[in-house]
Amino acid sequence: MQTLSLRAKLMSFSLAADGTVDVMYLEDGVLICTDGRIDALMPAANYTADGGDLDACEDLRPCFICPGFVDTHLHMPQLGIIASYSPQLLDWLDRFAFPAEQAFADSAFAAEQAQHFLDRVIASGTTCAQVFTTVHEHACEHLFAAAQSLDMAMIAGKVMMDRHAPAPLTQEPQACARACEGLINKWHDKGRLRYALTPRFAITSSEEQLALCGELLQSHPSVMLQTHLSENHEEIGEVARLFPQADDYLDVYERFGLNVSSATFAHGIHLSASERLRIVAAGAKVAFCPSSNLFLGSGLFDLAAMPMDNLSIASDVGGGTGLSMLDTCAEGYKVGQARGHQMHPTEAFYAITAGNAKSLGLADEIGQLQQGYSADLVVLNPTKPQGLAERYAICEDLTDALFAFMMLSDDRSIERCYIAGKLAYSASAQ
Ligand code: GUN
Ligand code: ZN
Repeated sequence: MQTLSLRAKLMSFSLAADGTVDVMYLEDGVLICTDGRIDALMPAANYTADGGDLDACEDLRPCFICPGFVDTHLHMPQLGIIASYSPQLLDWLDRFAFPAEQAFADSAFAAEQAQHFLDRVIASGTTCAQVFTTVHEHACEHLFAAAQSLDMAMIAGKVMMDRHAPAPLTQEPQACARACEGLINKWHDKGRLRYALTPRFAITSSEEQLALCGELLQSHPSVMLQTHLSENHEEIGEVARLFPQADDYLDVYERFGLNVSSATFAHGIHLSASERLRIVAAGAKVAFCPSSNLFLGSGLFDLAAMPMDNLSIASDVGGGTGLSMLDTCAEGYKVGQARGHQMHPTEAFYAITAGNAKSLGLADEIGQLQQGYSADLVVLNPTKPQGLAERYAICEDLTDALFAFMMLSDDRSIERCYIAGKLAYSASAQ
């Protein structure tokens, strides 16, 4: 039996029946985890009163422990092209994303990159992610294998493309579908791993490929779906040209059965009211990717227009400029401000923990400090970096501290990460 006993400030976020965020906060708490799961949490005073030995707990104060962050949309092969100078999406894809993805044809390179990617993700405080790999099966396999060795909750898929991309990144639709099926059979629902069918976006898949994707989804109903939707005006125009029979962008996916509750549509900045309603009716989710939307000049997402239940927040690295989910919230806050909608810090912390977990169908497994939940934890240090330390020193209450974390923290604030109760990252070991 493996036991972890930690003393720190403990915080966790959930949604109340009236749609507001409930905060569980123990200023001086003890968290006990056994065999990868949370066993108990309580105020330190109660622990002593119940006969517990505080000296046997590792004392992490003044750090906070909160559920590990969840990133619902990012691209493994794009870590190295963050901050590549380009006017907008389609040019950026051609000049940077596609060439970077072609390098993953080399399996040894892909294996090394998959491990590096996971190391970086975890060092940013993220303990669960939904990831686009590349068109190459081995790249997806390497990521799953690396996540499996950490017992990490990971959703990933091989990118499906059969047109409007460099030839080495495209694959004949039947062969691609067979490859996806092979990956599903090998990895889906194995431990904490799940497969997401990953048609890149409507531009790069023919009708035949989208139809095969819909068939795979029907024959494997527990598999997820991830794609891009309505991110950029030029993209939307191109989709309308390629699918003249479709009523709108979402209709392209609907025609092939892809607007489903397990779907994550990245971006959705320029959706019509009708498209939003149809996403809500299907129970699908839109991933708001603020740093990417700002960096690529895609537009300002309307946070008020989408119900929280159909919304997640994501880094979208490498369109996004960093892996940190706290920094992603800072960018989201600024987008909200520009549109007259203020993202409250407790909403932001809820979003990157329990909210994103729920959007991936993992609400009963991760995202909260609660008995029985997986011990996927992030330890946040309020004394690093210097700017956060100075602001934290004058914080008036927890909400103020959360806002300071959200606006001023960076990777230096991530002290540790635990995955399934095991130490997966420690700043002091670097
Ligand atoms: N749309 C299609 N592919 C991509 C991608 O790799 N990044 C972003 N941001 N949008 C896309
Ligand atoms: Zn993306």
